[in-house]
Amino acid sequence: MATNIAEIPVRKICCIGAGYVGGPTCSVLALNCPDIQVTVVDRNELRINQWNSEKLPIYEPGLEEIVKQCRGKNLFFSTDMAPALKEADLIFISVNTPTKTFGLGKGRAADLKFVESCARLIAEVCDRSKIVVEKSTVPVRSAASIVNVLKANTKPGVSYQVLSNPEFLAEGTAVNDLKNPDRVLIGGEESEEGKKAISALSWVYRHWVSADKIIEMNTWSSELSKLAANAFLAQRISSINAISAVCEATGADVSEVAKAIGLDSRLGPKFLQASVGWGGSCFQKDILNLVYISESLNLTSVAAYWQQVIDMNEYQKSRFGERIVQSMFNTITDKRIAILGFAFKKNTGDTRESPAIHVAKHLLEEGAFLHIYDPKVEKAQILLDLDQLDEESGISIHTDPYEAAKGTHALVICTEWDQFIVNTYDYQRMYDSMLKPAFVFDGRKILNHSALAKIGFHVETIGKRHGQSFQDHNWAGTNGI
Ligand code: UDX
Ligand code: ADP
Repeated sequence: MATNIAEIPVRKICCIGAGYVGGPTCSVLALNCPDIQVTVVDRNELRINQWNSEKLPIYEPGLEEIVKQCRGKNLFFSTDMAPALKEADLIFISVNTPTKTFGLGKGRAADLKFVESCARLIAEVCDRSKIVVEKSTVPVRSAASIVNVLKANTKPGVSYQVLSNPEFLAEGTAVNDLKNPDRVLIGGEESEEGKKAISALSWVYRHWVSADKIIEMNTWSSELSKLAANAFLAQRISSINAISAVCEATGADVSEVAKAIGLDSRLGPKFLQASVGWGGSCFQKDILNLVYISESLNLTSVAAYWQQVIDMNEYQKSRFGERIVQSMFNTITDKRIAILGFAFKKNTGDTRESPAIHVAKHLLEEGAFLHIYDPKVEKAQILLDLDQLDEESGISIHTDPYEAAKGTHALVICTEWDQFIVNTYDYQRMYDSMLKPAFVFDGRKILNHSALAKIGFHVETIGKRHGQSFQDHNWAGTNGI
């Protein structure tokens, strides 16, 4: 265990926001810091009840075990925010920062109303000095806004140090990402007080993260690094997706091109998997934010550059939907189509910005009936995402993939769930229960296309023309159906 060399002792931590970031982060923190009491608070009572129950509100491999191990010992979930904030030495703000849907910056700027209301609450209830850490992804210079709100409302004799400590966990691998982070960024003021606060938070991380991975910097660099990292990751996928369109038009195979590119040690192999498009709660929001900030700073060319990464993603999702219609003889009206996978990626039940939503809406607009199956997404969530109140309007949601496939003309893979590729699925059985010709549209390039073709399926996939004769392979190492 690390020795507390910081001058500010951290014995109690309170985290506001029990979502995809706050929940897993605090669970791993509690696991690694038995000497610190961690309380996660949220105004959403249902969410807190779920964190305190057998069925957690989010699915994340490995999370349940940690919560069960720490809950009631040094990890608590509560809606009673004021006492937890009052007692805490350090407060994480992990609330959502959605894209604004109205007013100035509509559709692009991040809405900081939840962050601001946290700052107001902290100032109102706390009667001693604390460290406040922004963990939510926020625009550059947000810490400065939090400082202003705190300063304007602080009780006499109380002062705050505000740090930026962006979270880099990816959903589906959150526990591992938190246990073994590539880096931990801590941004703070360059004053003496700022340095003390940075070393206090650094001490917390030193319980399980080596010192060389904890990087201290100024607040704005830390805030911008988070936006930039997500923009760069999304840009790589948009780049390979752009190449996938060229492949389909020329006869090149995007898997082969990605392999060739990724073997260049300067580029590396990760995030080069062409797909139906990227989704998730961060990429779109953060790039829009970067675009908005750039425009506000009069950096028009910079804004246009990053906007194109989003535009390419929209193009990719639409292109896939159009390809389905074209391949099925230019009409899918009254045809039945099974969508396998609705989450934005595997190993999560999260559907925020999932490309499956875009594809499903496209197919519905073209008059198809959809049978939807996802191993982790709840039925109510799928209906909500598709703006439906019930299953009557052309959609049925299934809990069994074979039932979903039965009687359909096509299977559309929208999420790369392992269970779709390993030998557990009997595609012959699905084929036998489908209408002919039976199609497979592999939006994730995960299936063994030659094996499917042998069964009799007409197979279409991203970044490859139909009917190419050479061996199918997925260089990322997944194969088999
Ligand atoms: C991302 C960042 O990775 C993480 O560091 C940050 O903290 C939050 O945003 P997340 O959105 O959870 O994490 O998932 P990620 O693994 O980055 O995937 C994002 C999207 O890109 C998914 O829809 C995924 O399927 C897609 N993707 C990813 C591809 O299409 N191809 C790839 O090669 C990689
Ligand atoms: P993220 O993916 O960023 O973690 P989520 O939406 O999963 O986002 O979680 C954010 C959580 O923050 C939600 O559970 C929401 O109820 C909570 N929250 C938002 N604003 C406040 C607030 N002012 N006080 C307490 N909790 C809040």
